[in-house]
Amino acid sequence: MAEKLLIAGNWKMHKTPAQTEEFFKEFLPLIEGINNVEILICPPFVSIPSAVEATNNSYVKIGAQNCYFEKEGSFTGEVSPVMLKEVGCKYVIIGHSERRHLFGESDELINKKVISALEEGLKVILCVGETLQERESGLTFTVVETQLKLGLSGVEDNLDRIEIAYEPVWAIGTGVPAQPEEAQEVHRFIYQKLGELNPKKADQVRVLYGGSVKPSNAEAILSQPHIKGVLVGGASLKPDSFAQIVRIGSQLSG
Ligand code: 13P
Repeated sequence: MAEKLLIAGNWKMHKTPAQTEEFFKEFLPLIEGINNVEILICPPFVSIPSAVEATNNSYVKIGAQNCYFEKEGSFTGEVSPVMLKEVGCKYVIIGHSERRHLFGESDELINKKVISALEEGLKVILCVGETLQERESGLTFTVVETQLKLGLSGVEDNLDRIEIAYEPVWAIGTGVPAQPEEAQEVHRFIYQKLGELNPKKADQVRVLYGGSVKPSNAEAILSQPHIKGVLVGGASLKPDSFAQIVRIGSQLSG
């Protein structure tokens, strides 16, 4: 069975190295002693070293929000999984909807990134999710299935090193999350599809929910049977709100 709930923060383009240090000074005492959930923060690239240093003696893990698929070379502006590994990242988020929609990332590119990150020993959080228009056209399951199949192509044997984040695009940054039952329905579908890809490893994958998760709705979301964690944007930027979400996860695991 999958292990602990994963409570992850995606800081997006927020927090300089100095602000990162400040965050952890406040955050770490708030979650001291909690070890029954896995806690992950994904800062912007330049703030990763200060995050790694600040969390050295804690259970908090640090990840990145993106990477390129080549190890090195003439790829101006890109960062490779080798580099992320060396600075202390354990995870990398791949295929976030902002990467897909603002930066034009295709499922094929995302798949190359997934393969490359796994080769370097990073764990991957692959993001999937439908737009509002797709949901209203009844395409939610088709879109999610396509993103899963193309994103995970060739890595079926490594499913135990993958987590999925279901992030309906219409719920991201809007303050309006999916209803817990609505998310649960998609999560159950994702587990079913993962089972078709690799029946032996599907239940080791944690399928996280992302999109307007806050302390006020985290319990209802995390109480759904197929929701094994959360990927939190805005509410992960404040030490107290992210710590509250961590504590809710911990209490539900206790
Ligand atoms: P918000 O929690 O700000 O809606 O962002 C969700 C998200 O995109 C996490 O990756």
